[in-house]
Amino acid sequence: MSSDKPSFLRDIWYFAMPGAELKPGTLRHAVLLGEPVVFGRTREGEVFALRDLCPHRGVPLSRGRLLGKGDKAVGETVAAAEVECPYHGWRFRTDGRCAAIPSLVPGQDVETSRIRVPAYAVHESQGVVWIHFGSQTDRLGETPAPRSATPLLPGIGETARPRLIERKRFACHVDHAVIGLMDPAHGPFVHRSWWWRSEASIHEKAKRFGPSELGFTMLEHRPSKNSGAYKILGGTPTTEIAFRLPGIRTELVRIGEKCVLSLTAVTPIAEEETEVTQIFYWTLPWLDVARPVVRAFARAFLKQDHDMVMLQKEGLAFNPRLMLINDADVQAKWYFRLKKVWEEAREANEPFVNPVEPVTLRWRS
Ligand code: FES
Ligand SMILES: [Fe+2]
Repeated sequence: MSSDKPSFLRDIWYFAMPGAELKPGTLRHAVLLGEPVVFGRTREGEVFALRDLCPHRGVPLSRGRLLGKGDKAVGETVAAAEVECPYHGWRFRTDGRCAAIPSLVPGQDVETSRIRVPAYAVHESQGVVWIHFGSQTDRLGETPAPRSATPLLPGIGETARPRLIERKRFACHVDHAVIGLMDPAHGPFVHRSWWWRSEASIHEKAKRFGPSELGFTMLEHRPSKNSGAYKILGGTPTTEIAFRLPGIRTELVRIGEKCVLSLTAVTPIAEEETEVTQIFYWTLPWLDVARPVVRAFARAFLKQDHDMVMLQKEGLAFNPRLMLINDADVQAKWYFRLKKVWEEAREANEPFVNPVEPVTLRWRS
């Protein structure tokens, strides 16, 4: 969206996929940030990710086999999980190092272990696979240690598993998807419906915000009385909404001891393609029963946002100047500021200092 280079934040963890989508012993191709990635899960359950291009002739490794300990490959017994390229059978360990080149005969001194496929750091927790995209320049070398801690979703504990997952592709740059999802003023217009909001329900709001890890948080508050759907939860809920780079929004609703966490993860696929994943976690048993209804709501919401972004695309084709106004667009301003500060800190190899100051924002919605 902006002309700043590079287009996507680097040295940061991105949401990759729900862990359940990656079965043990399988490989899976994806494109993220314009890069081909092969995800794999060993039979032992460990997740890994490599660039999905064989360094020999560029064939996607995801189209080959994932071998496990004890498997046979060209007469050899494999010692640990390896990915075998379908073209000439070169094999790569899960850290990207080449383990074997079947065509070699004794005396042909190719240093196999010096051949590498770039490997990505991955982390699986709370039923979610995260992937770390390092700086473009070190892609071909050793995988550097990630600059930021892996995201840990709040309120639900490390062993929590998703209860509901909805994903949708938006044909837009990641920035438009992110600021569309964090925009407080579009609710009564985009999400106007008999079951959520009416235009007449618009009223002034004042919300306290403060800096939080790699982003900002709308501090715990009682949900607006005009958000009727909260009533069906029972009890008096409180909500805390947090955003962190590169595009992770969490909304934690606590009702007494119980909670519902909604995660919205925005991951760039390509310059004009973005994947938005909505995941719900909850500890309210009756929500399991209501899952089809929750799914219908989540799907309808995502579609409303998606359709508006598509409409916006019609206008953006003419490259208009855009505006960010106070206070409704302050979160969008923070997003761009956070990105800029992150990039500057990265380039200068200095620690990231969160530029967001505590403040109360006021708007009508
Ligand atoms: S292209 Fe992969 S082994 Fe030749
Ligand atoms: Fe929305």
